[in-house]
Amino acid sequence: MSAESSVTKRLDGKVAVITGGASGLGECTARLFLKHGAKVVIADVQDELGHNLCQVLGTEDISYVHCDVTSEPDVENAVQTAVSKYGKLDIMFNNAGIMGDNEVRVTDTSTEVFKRVYDVNVLGGFLGAKYAARVMVPAKKGCILFTASLSSKISYGNPHPYKSSKHAVAGLTKSLAVELGEYGIRVNCISPHATATPLFQKTLGLFDKKKGEEMIAVSAVLKGTVLEPEDFANAALYLASDEAKYVSGVNLPIDGGYSLSNQSWKMGLSILSE
Ligand SMILES: NC(=O)c1ccc[n+]([C@@H]2O[C@H](COP(=O)([O-])OP(=O)(O)OC[C@H]3O[C@@H](n4cnc5c(N)ncnc54)[C@H](O)[C@@H]3O)[C@@H](O)[C@H]2O)c1
Repeated sequence: MSAESSVTKRLDGKVAVITGGASGLGECTARLFLKHGAKVVIADVQDELGHNLCQVLGTEDISYVHCDVTSEPDVENAVQTAVSKYGKLDIMFNNAGIMGDNEVRVTDTSTEVFKRVYDVNVLGGFLGAKYAARVMVPAKKGCILFTASLSSKISYGNPHPYKSSKHAVAGLTKSLAVELGEYGIRVNCISPHATATPLFQKTLGLFDKKKGEEMIAVSAVLKGTVLEPEDFANAALYLASDEAKYVSGVNLPIDGGYSLSNQSWKMGLSILSE
C-alpha cells in the first residue's frame, strides 16, 4: 500500500455492514466507504435497488444481502455474510429507519405504527449492535454507528413514535459505548437535520427534490448552503475511520447549528411591534 493511498483511502482494508444502504443516506455512505477502500455489505429490504447499486458500482468489494432489521436471523445473517465474504467486520452501521406516519397527536397515534417504528428504528439497531458485538468483542476492536436524527435532540413537530425512537437510539449509543469500551469498540451516532432523501420527500408528500431542499434552506440557521447526503456520509466516514480512534459515545449533529436555535423567541418578539 502506498503512503498516498493510505492517506486518501481512509477506510482501507476495513469491512462494513450498512443497514438501509440501498437508498438515501445509507446509499451515499456505502458509495463513500467503498471509495475509501472499505468492503461493504448493504443490508436492506429493497432487493432490486440494492442489487442494482452493486451492479452499477461493478466491484466485488460491495455486495447486497436481503435483511429486514426487525428479523434476528436476517441481522445475524448480514453480519455473517460480511465475515464469510470479506473475513471480518470492522464497522456496523445501523442506519435503516422509518418515519411511520405523519400523525403528531398522541391521542390519534396508532399503537401499531408506534410498535413498527420502534421495531425498525430501535430493535433493528439493537440487533445490529448485538450481532456485531459478537464478532467485535473477541477481535477486541470495532466501530458501531447508528443513525439517530435531530429529533433525538430537539422537538420540531415530528410524530411521537419517530421522535422518541430516535431518543432511544441515542440512549442505546451511550449505553453500548460504556459497555463495549472495555473491548476497544467505539459506539457513536449521527443526527442529521432534514435531508431531501426518499424518506423525507415521502413524509412531506413532495415529488420535487429541489422544493424539499428549498424548504430546508429557508428554515436553516447556516445559510448559503444546503444539507446533502454527502455531508452525512462524510461524518460517518470520520467516525468510522481511525481518525476518530478516541471518539465514543457521541451523538454528532449534522445540522448547521439548527439545534442551538429557538425561533419561537422571534415569534414572541414580533407581537411587540404589532
Ligand atoms: N432524510 C432525513 O431528513 C433524515 C433526517 C434525520 C434522520 N434520518 C434517518 O436517516 C436514516 C436513513 O434515512 P433516509 O433519509 O436515507 O431514508 P431512505 O428511505 O432513503 O432510506 C432508508 C432505507 O432503510 C431501509 N429500511 C427500511 N426499513 C427497513 C427494514 N425493516 N430493514 C432493513 N432496511 C430497512 C429502506 O428500504 C431504505 O433503503 C433513517 O434512520 C432516518 O430515520 C433521515
